[in-house]
Amino acid sequence: PQEKAALKARIRDLLTAQDAVLVAHYYTDGDLQELAEETGGLVADSLEMARFGTTSPARTLVVCGVRFMGETAKILNPEKRVLMPDLAATCSLDEGCPAAEFAAFCDAHPEWCVVVYANTSAEVKARADWVVTSSIALPVVRHLHERGEKILWAPDRHLGRYVQQETGADMLLWQGACVVHEAFKGYALEQLRRLHADAAVLVHPESPAEVIDQADVVGSTTQLIKAVSELPNETFIVATDQGIFWKMHQLAPHKRLIAAPTAGVGATCESCAHCPWMAMNALQNLEQVLVRGDQEVLVAPGIRERALVPIRRMLDFAE
Ligand code: 13P
Ligand code: SF4
Repeated sequence: PQEKAALKARIRDLLTAQDAVLVAHYYTDGDLQELAEETGGLVADSLEMARFGTTSPARTLVVCGVRFMGETAKILNPEKRVLMPDLAATCSLDEGCPAAEFAAFCDAHPEWCVVVYANTSAEVKARADWVVTSSIALPVVRHLHERGEKILWAPDRHLGRYVQQETGADMLLWQGACVVHEAFKGYALEQLRRLHADAAVLVHPESPAEVIDQADVVGSTTQLIKAVSELPNETFIVATDQGIFWKMHQLAPHKRLIAAPTAGVGATCESCAHCPWMAMNALQNLEQVLVRGDQEVLVAPGIRERALVPIRRMLDFAE
């Protein structure tokens, strides 16, 4: 603990010296979330992370999360230096949607309005009409559907299916998935719900249909955290990355939080959902990147300008 406190103190000093601020996602380690809050940074879902960078006066943004979050920060704030503890922190949705194949998919369907999830590369966003995060996907697609648009959606097929079901929009789905959320098991969740009949079930929409169908609340990380504070239930079954428990515990310390099963009920937390790429963010490599200034996120100018358009559209719509 003493070593950790010293490391945190060094990071605090480095942040001040470099006019840098931390922007952390809820799935990162609790120490990083705590440090972000203590030093005037932000812990948030991916939409709020994107917005924060544009309002912060800091000259350096240190994004603790995965690569697409760093790229979005750079696209929105080209004049700022954007660092990440480890640039290799990717996302299975981003990896599963290569820009060239995606461009061919779009070319084959020229009449369709292209809506991409934020969990994609800058190149893929550069090809999109709209970018959405999980917190805003439903209202954006509803709006486009009302305008009579047909929607080409990428890359998450589970979120796409859910949005299609809720909005009735005509949607063509890229077949990507999040390796973390796809692991939740509907049959095991049913068993767990029988053991905790009073529990509310909170589900991130990257989960499979049979898990979403059992949810009391479906939403982004921020929306799920809000539900724990606002709903009267004492117990919650949570189908998303276990990193989210840090903030849920902080806001509602007396509530009981149970991880939704990724295997049969009774399996140990070894099999709890946790994103391997979010786990690449740690105090040690955060300190290192502040010392060395490497792991800087860069986006080619031509790509940046095109990707900015659908990201801005999302932020303007969200206001
Ligand atoms: P949120 O936008 O809900 O924070 O989700 C980001 C993400 O990567 C979920 O897996
Ligand atoms: Fe990507 Fe899934 Fe990790 Fe989120 S949890 S960053 S969607 S792999």
